Amino acid sequence: MMLKTPLSLKAEHEELHAQLAEAMDAGGATGEAAAKVAKALHPHFLKEEEYALPPLGLLPALAEGRVLPEMEAAVAMAYRLKADLGQMLLEHREIVAALKVLVEAANSEGNEGASHFAEKLMLHAQTEEEVLYPASILVGEYLNLRLSEKIGR
Ligand SMILES: [Fe+2]
Ligand SMILES: [Fe+2]
Repeated sequence: MMLKTPLSLKAEHEELHAQLAEAMDAGGATGEAAAKVAKALHPHFLKEEEYALPPLGLLPALAEGRVLPEMEAAVAMAYRLKADLGQMLLEHREIVAALKVLVEAANSEGNEGASHFAEKLMLHAQTEEEVLYPASILVGEYLNLRLSEKIGR
């Protein structure tokens, strides 16, 4: 059972992390702005990989119609995300605000790579809000329904 952050999303997080480290290494106003992004981003990514994104690992199996009792753990994760959604969105707003400062610094210092990274991370947050978080919550709602049917409670 794949109750793990899908590899594609994990790889995307890792790439964003590596690019953020590069921006920090650039020093100057860019490095300073990137360090502020990192401070807001790190705990957020950890929460995502702990409970917000792992339910999505079940999507291929669920789309094939497979529902197994051991998928139950995803329900608690998804409900934790649902309860914490306001806080997650608030963190996105803080991260995006820090990224806007980074874009300005990077542009003024001619650091195209850092500016491109910042735009990419903003899009990443938007994708999570529009697609991934709602999908993760739906996985939990769907599983809860299907598992309670199976157990007949
Ligand atoms: Fe993320
Ligand atoms: Fe996020």
